[in-house]
Amino acid sequence: TQREDGASSCCPLNDLKRLPQCDKRLGPLKFSPTHTILIDVAAFNNGKGPLPQRGRDMWHSNFVKSPCSPSSFMIKTGLMKSPTQTWRWDVISKQLSALAKKTAASVDDVKDAIIKYNPKYKSQWSFDALSSFVKVIPKEENNFSKLFSKIAALALKLPELLQKGIPLLRTGHPASITLSQAQISCLLANAFFCTFPHRNATHHSAEYHNYPSINFTSLFGQWSQRKKEKLRAIMYYFQVVTDENTKPKGLVTFERRCLQERDQTASEWRNCQEKPPKLHVTTRGTIETEGTGLLQVDFACSSIGGGVLGSGLVQEEILFLMNPELIVSRLFTEKLADNECLIVTGCQQFSLYSGYGETFEWAGPYEDRLDRDEWARLKRQILAIDAVNYKHRREQYNMHRVMRELNKAYCGFKDHGHNEPDIATGKWGCGAFNGDPQLKAVIQLMAAARAKRGLAFFTFDDDKLKQGLQQTHHLLVTQGTTVAKLFGLLEDYCAVQQASSGSHVELFEFIGNAVRPSRSQL
Ligand code: AR6
Repeated sequence: TQREDGASSCCPLNDLKRLPQCDKRLGPLKFSPTHTILIDVAAFNNGKGPLPQRGRDMWHSNFVKSPCSPSSFMIKTGLMKSPTQTWRWDVISKQLSALAKKTAASVDDVKDAIIKYNPKYKSQWSFDALSSFVKVIPKEENNFSKLFSKIAALALKLPELLQKGIPLLRTGHPASITLSQAQISCLLANAFFCTFPHRNATHHSAEYHNYPSINFTSLFGQWSQRKKEKLRAIMYYFQVVTDENTKPKGLVTFERRCLQERDQTASEWRNCQEKPPKLHVTTRGTIETEGTGLLQVDFACSSIGGGVLGSGLVQEEILFLMNPELIVSRLFTEKLADNECLIVTGCQQFSLYSGYGETFEWAGPYEDRLDRDEWARLKRQILAIDAVNYKHRREQYNMHRVMRELNKAYCGFKDHGHNEPDIATGKWGCGAFNGDPQLKAVIQLMAAARAKRGLAFFTFDDDKLKQGLQQTHHLLVTQGTTVAKLFGLLEDYCAVQQASSGSHVELFEFIGNAVRPSRSQL
């Protein structure tokens, strides 16, 4: 066994295929029945930039219910008067216009405005985090009273910027939405002011119970150090997008992908003759920085963005805070099913961070210098895949669960077209979700092999995992082990784990013993 120690079949990071090199010709921007484009396609293709696409409001269960929809009403009750129905956007725009005109808007002004068109939540919603935040942040960092007014003015542009209904990316329906960064900023300004109708109720029979939350209320209450740093990142985003000189001018595409039934079967894995993919493994660096140009994995929650608007602050939430345009996916992306993923192309990084979880801090502005593709999208691709959240670690040593994870990863990694970049990932599902890093690494290797794409694996300081993965990969490469063979080994491994009461056999060791040629064979 000593012979393999230190040996490696891994490659340097530069050997992997990255976006700028593996550019494919996109041709003119084109909509299709499964690709909704919310900007004027003809104008864009004629070089006029992203202008809003004309269209109709859609107050319909397959579309986002717009705050400025002519069908959105609220009931106004006066002390002496009988209840009257008012157009909700009238109330919103009156409140936001007043705020936009103020030279100095306070948190109380923001709160009063929000409550005017969300009266039901008057006693439920707290704004203590926002209040504490503006008190502790020095004026030099952010002039909030001005910024609140600017965000209000941006939110008010909704009827002009988004004339066409935004379809929902629903479970079981692969589809894409392309919109401009300006449109995203306007939608997020509306989320900030909690204008989205029907999106506050969380009970099981609520219309959007299967969607993530989008109105920012949960960000504004329950003050904590975490909230402070989150708000710094969010407010910095608004500072950039409300400034004429710095507001971004490109497009972003959100694509829901579903893996077809026939691709998910055990026999697909059992018969897959692919060999281990190219692998770069390192303890240093992060998916988002060193993995630039690769397909970057978001260790997601099935409700995309997870706790970004609440208290969560691990890989996905941090990613969404550094690239706040990702937050808009919560508006239209239904919870991911087991065979689904979301791919976001073109979102911009606005901020830097340091620390992680409790020690996370907003570390200042980031100037994104990525090139744009023919559709004016920054050359950044993020893949959201949600692992299974294991309460008890033992639950994962079960082929049903292993298959679920294999298919989830493969759904995201599967090549669509040709010349796609390789993949940047790491300890997917192994933090908040309690997965076994060795098992998840092998699962991702198998999915990448089947997708014929290389992997950059960032172990985030985990030296043991790095060594083990490097040795296992070397062994698999030298022995020409196929995905099919590994699938069989995982079946055996699960059986062993289930039979062993309490004692844990490590997967890398198990594979090593099974694959390594015995002395008599040497
Ligand atoms: N680059 C590489 N590795 C990282 C990075 C990074 N930037 N950040 C963290 N890691 P976790 P999960 C490593 O817990 O278990 C969220 O709430 C680090 O070792 O974020 O899939 C989502 O919304 C970390 O322990 O992913 C979901 O609800 C490990 O990756 C849930 O967490 C796993 O990161 C997903 O949890």
